[in-house]
Order: sequence, then structure tokens, then C-alpha cells
Amino acid sequence: MTRIIVTGADGQLARELARLSGSSECAECEFVFARRAELDITSRQSVSSFLDAHPTDVIVNCAAYTAVDRAESDATAALRVNSEGVANLACEAAERDVTLVHISTDYVFDGSARVPYTENDATSPLSVYGETKRQGEREMQASGCRGIIIRIGWLYSAEGHNFVRTIAAKAQTESELRVVADQWGTPTWAADLAAAILHIVPQLKGRDLRGEVFHYADEGETSWWELADTIVGMMRSECVVLPITTDEWPTAARRPEYAVLDKTKIKSWFGVDVPDWEVSLERCLRQMNVYRD
Ligand SMILES: NC(=O)c1ccc[n+]([C@@H]2O[C@H](COP(=O)([O-])OP(=O)(O)OC[C@H]3O[C@@H](n4cnc5c(N)ncnc54)[C@H](OP(=O)(O)O)[C@@H]3O)[C@@H](O)[C@H]2O)c1
Repeated sequence: MTRIIVTGADGQLARELARLSGSSECAECEFVFARRAELDITSRQSVSSFLDAHPTDVIVNCAAYTAVDRAESDATAALRVNSEGVANLACEAAERDVTLVHISTDYVFDGSARVPYTENDATSPLSVYGETKRQGEREMQASGCRGIIIRIGWLYSAEGHNFVRTIAAKAQTESELRVVADQWGTPTWAADLAAAILHIVPQLKGRDLRGEVFHYADEGETSWWELADTIVGMMRSECVVLPITTDEWPTAARRPEYAVLDKTKIKSWFGVDVPDWEVSLERCLRQMNVYRD
């Protein structure tokens, strides 16, 4: 039996892990889902007490400060969660020989590449959020704890705050939407990522991985505009999606122009199955009851 604690239990990814935790593939796993009120990762004391009360083999860290624009004027809070919080988890994990699976982001890159980023490419975040996530990765690596870092692309699910839900809601009320067409990346359905994590966790046993980085996103690449246009198309909405440039949609945080991740390593090391982003988008929209045949 593998005992797994999932932090940030109210978030998009954690909720997909909870959904899968009851499936037959997880019969050998015992889960504890910890919400922020029960386990605040910014407090070493909170982490330590929680782990005393719930001895575990693995921690999947889904807790994060994810408000990318707000982080620009709230750097201290973002740093506390995304860097100090990871350090607290990693140090406790190192002391207890617990394996940490930590989630990071494509926003650690500056987006100047034109081919998918590999794990060996240099990081150079453009935003406070990206910088705090990079520091979190470094804290985990410095702790020497067992485990892996999975950098992921644009995350969405049928619940929570995300681009897919925003566009799906607007497509039902607006006749026209303007969406940035010069930023490229790959959407990641949280359900696919959750399945990948649960596929990987049993394989970490007996492998001495410490802070090894992997990339995950669904297969393919697209722009925010094309993603929005595809959502609207799948919904058979009359709403028109107009492409605009990043300059026409100013935001507090700068985002990478090209944030596509190379998944070769995670596929070859762990045999992870990576679905095509459009196939997964359709499945998510069906789950939301907005897909129209
Ligand atoms: N969303 C994306 O597009 C995206 C892209 C790339 C990478 N990622 C990464 O993927 C991971 C999962 O993202 P997500 O979209 O599932 O995040 P999410 O929906 O924003 O959920 C994050 C959760 O963390 C919790 N949290 C915040 N501070 C905490 C603390 N101090 N202690 C414990 N829990 C805390 C939040 O609690 P409250 O609800 O109380 O705030 C929230 O439930 C994160 O590491 C994120 O950086 C996300």
C-alpha cells in the first residue's frame, strides 16, 4: 500500500487526483487530501504536525499561488507559497525519507525558443510567478529530498478558475471575443495530468530520483486564440473569436511567447500516455455539458 498526501486539495489538479483516487488503478494507494486550512505549506510547523499525524510515503504538492497577474504586486505572498512552502515540504520530506512530487510551470521559460523546451534548457522567467516557481524548484533540489518536479503547461479542468471555463461561459453570452494569438503553448487537462502522476508514483519506488525535472502537457501546440476558437467551435456557438496581439491585451505579468514543452523524457522514463490536446478538450467540454455534436 502506498500512502499519498495531496496538498492544496481544493485546487484544480488536486480535485482531479481525488476523482481518480477511487478508481481500480489506485487500489494499492491510500490518499489523504489536505486543504489549506489543514495543511498550510508556508508553515513548517503545520507541515511537520500534519506529517506526524499522517505518516506517508509520497506527497503530491498541488498547493501553489497561481494568480499570475496578482503576483506582480504581491510578490511576498507568491514567494511564501511557491518557494518557502516548497522548501518546508521538501525539508520535511528529506528528514522523513518521503518522496515529493512537485508541480512547476512552463512560465519558468522566457518563451524565446521556437522548438519545444526540454528539461535541459535554461530557465529565465519573465514574471514574478515564474520566478517564485523557479525558486521553488531550486529549494526542492537543494533539500536533497527524494522525488521529481513536473513542469506543466496551461492547466484547465471542468472546475476552478481557468481559461477554458472562462471562454465557455463567455461564448454563451457574448457575440464577439478578442483573444491573444501570438502566445503559443499546450493546454493540459488536469484529468490527464492526474492520471500521469498516478501512473508515475508507483514507479518512483526504488528509483533514487532527487529533484529530477520532467515536462508534461497534452500533445500538440496552439495559441490562446486557436484554443478559444476551438472551444467555441466545439460548443457550436455563434460567438466570433477575433485574434489580437499581446500588445492589444496588456496584463500585469509578461508571459512567454512560446511555452511549448518537450515531453520525450517523461514518456520514455515512465511510459506516460499523452493525449492530444483537442481530444482532451472535447472530453472536458462534454464533462461540462457544453459540447454539441
Ligand atoms: N493553472 C495553470 O494554468 C498552471 C500552469 C502551469 C503550472 N501550474 C501549476 O500546477 C499546480 C496546480 O495548479 P492548479 O491550477 O491546480 O492550482 P489552483 O487551482 O490555483 O489550486 C492551488 C491550491 O493551492 C492552495 N494553496 C494556496 N496557498 C496554500 C498554502 N499556503 N498551503 C496550502 N495550500 C495552499 C489553494 O488554496 P485556496 O483555494 O485556499 O487559495 C488552492 O486550493 C501549481 O503548482 C501551479 O503552479 C498551473
